[in-house]
Amino acid sequence: MTKRSITELLSQMTIDEKIAQLIQVTPDFLTDTEANLTGPLAALGLSEDIIHNIGSVLSAVGAKETKAIQEQHLKRNRLGIPLLLMADIIHGYRTIFPVSLGLASSWDMNLAERTAEAAAKESAVTGLHVTFAPMVDLVRDPRWGRVVESTGEDPYLNGEYARAFVRGFQGEDLSADTDRIAACVKHLAAYGAAEGGRDYNTVNMSERQLRESYLPAYKEAVDAGSELVMTAFNTVDGVPATGNRWLMRKVLREEWGFGGVLISDWGAVQEMIAHGAAADGAEAARKAIEAGVDIEMMTPLYVLDLKRLVEEGKVDEALIDESVLRVLRLKEKLGLFDNPYRGADEEREEEVILSGEHRAVAREAAVKSAVLLKNEGVLPLRSGQKTALIGPFAQSGDILGPWSLWGKREEAAQLYNGMLTKTESSLLRVAKGCDVESGSEEQLEEALQAAREADIIVLALGESSEMSGEAGSRGDIRLPKAQLDLIARLKPLGKPMAAVLFNGRPLDLHGVIDEVDAVLVAWFPGTEGGNAIADLLYGDSAPSGRLTMSFPYAVGQIPVYYNHYNTGRPLTPENADQRYVSKYLDMPNDPLLPFGFGLGYTTFTYAKAALSAETIRPGETLTVTVDVTNTGETAGEEVVQLYVRDVAGEVVRPVKELKAFRKIKLAPGETVSVAFELGEEQLRYYHSDLSYESDEGEFQLFVGANSRDAEALSFQLVK
Ligand code: BGC
Repeated sequence: MTKRSITELLSQMTIDEKIAQLIQVTPDFLTDTEANLTGPLAALGLSEDIIHNIGSVLSAVGAKETKAIQEQHLKRNRLGIPLLLMADIIHGYRTIFPVSLGLASSWDMNLAERTAEAAAKESAVTGLHVTFAPMVDLVRDPRWGRVVESTGEDPYLNGEYARAFVRGFQGEDLSADTDRIAACVKHLAAYGAAEGGRDYNTVNMSERQLRESYLPAYKEAVDAGSELVMTAFNTVDGVPATGNRWLMRKVLREEWGFGGVLISDWGAVQEMIAHGAAADGAEAARKAIEAGVDIEMMTPLYVLDLKRLVEEGKVDEALIDESVLRVLRLKEKLGLFDNPYRGADEEREEEVILSGEHRAVAREAAVKSAVLLKNEGVLPLRSGQKTALIGPFAQSGDILGPWSLWGKREEAAQLYNGMLTKTESSLLRVAKGCDVESGSEEQLEEALQAAREADIIVLALGESSEMSGEAGSRGDIRLPKAQLDLIARLKPLGKPMAAVLFNGRPLDLHGVIDEVDAVLVAWFPGTEGGNAIADLLYGDSAPSGRLTMSFPYAVGQIPVYYNHYNTGRPLTPENADQRYVSKYLDMPNDPLLPFGFGLGYTTFTYAKAALSAETIRPGETLTVTVDVTNTGETAGEEVVQLYVRDVAGEVVRPVKELKAFRKIKLAPGETVSVAFELGEEQLRYYHSDLSYESDEGEFQLFVGANSRDAEALSFQLVK
């Protein structure tokens, strides 16, 4: 259908039909049985008529089911407008890849893109059209359960991942490529800055901070062509994001030129009432449509109130037309008017879903996501070693993580089974030791028994999937006490211990990292988790992940992140014993492990970096070169990182900002020369009047292995 005929279609629609295009419910609402009509539908105030004209549904999955839903819908829909089918395909459909915070640790955009491509393909054959991903919220508070869905604390890196995920989901040409699905970047904006890390909580920050740190990744996703954007639950400067005209009309539509579909988060239009920003449903609906929210997810206020508001002259019908056009245009772009079933194909489901090819990507991704935090000579395991694998995750399928709705725990490779493919079963003992959050003396005894006979203990510890994700905030981010007790009971045996952690957030590692000889963070590694971790434990692969979110020393420091400001009384090694400096009396300022940190099985040394010039002018590029050598005995990968600091800005500037990185693979003894180019445009920032420009003067530049251990150089910007 051409653009013109979309407009024609709009002109044939009644106002009720138009408004129905703008709501979204789950498919169970679509059955107009007597029970449904008088039950859930009546509760929402939705009539049979509206349901027949609805624009989209959430979570319909499986080719047979989606085809049936679409077929039934088209039979009843007067104008034959197909449904859009949307769902949360966050880190895989049935083949589950590592959670985003894990995958982010790979610092590998190509890999991220390939996981999204595979996820799109598996969903597209089931008939899905849209995924509610990528989630690109910048995060600084590991108490917030949804850090597991994000790619971390850095605006630049988040932006790179945002692009990679959108490319992976949508491909080059969404219209032609039915193995792809439309992306929906979320949650605009700053959902990751919820106060105290408590989900859905207030967000309070200056516009400058919002633009500097929080908005860039959403913008990158929009620039990469994300077809949809989702609003956030939180307020932005006092106004709920879902009714925030400034954010949605001015920033998103006007400044960024976004022409796609804006969808509310689940129930977020109605939540404006609880926020205290709308007196009733009608006011909430009006505010949302005025902000340009095209689809209302899971509440019926548009349907209940918009028509009357138009009749009363309180809402301009043009706003509704505009939203309907955007929804119809997306349907057209996906080719649904020509083929409402798009990619849905039961036969291809068999061949595509959980294919060997996708499992291979999942294994590669899980290997590259793992981060080695400590290793005092115990990893990799040596052949012939008698090993006791102990912990609640030794034989657990709960390694897929939150948002793996169609993943199956029974299909996940458990760690014990992965290890059995590497070693003789007579050398491997296994015991649970405790459950995730509780334990018994019997379990401990069994673990001690297994451990006594072993040369080395591998602990499989962590959080259950329910302990992070949406509404998964924790105030105490240590491992549950039962697991800390398990470590404490095993410790007196005096055996070497290596801990593998399955977790959805940076943890407070007291009671773990100080007690064991090695710590490998596996995150929630997904379907191939156990095989991938076994690859790493036995040295068939080497850990190469680097943290993209700081691991705090303790909760009391939070928020703690590398790109903070300096303060007027910064703590330095020289003034550490003085009182009136910015510090805690009872804990360090620095996180336990910084952004960018991770070890491997080899070592790297950095030669002194060299600059091509001492000054730079607009239009010129500065080249930074550094030689990196693998000084160990095995091959390994290193992520060489470049940070910049503007020494004196018009407003204060972060002590370091990541500007570039390069992931390199080096054979033992090999040296690679890494060159980065830096231009004036990378030195720009938001001034107090929100102008985006650079300042003349001194800049520091840091090249190194992480945000803490990086050598400082200096250059001048002259304008
Ligand atoms: C979440 C979104 C998600 C939506 C639909 C909401 O509760 O905040 O991230 O996309 O539900 O499932």
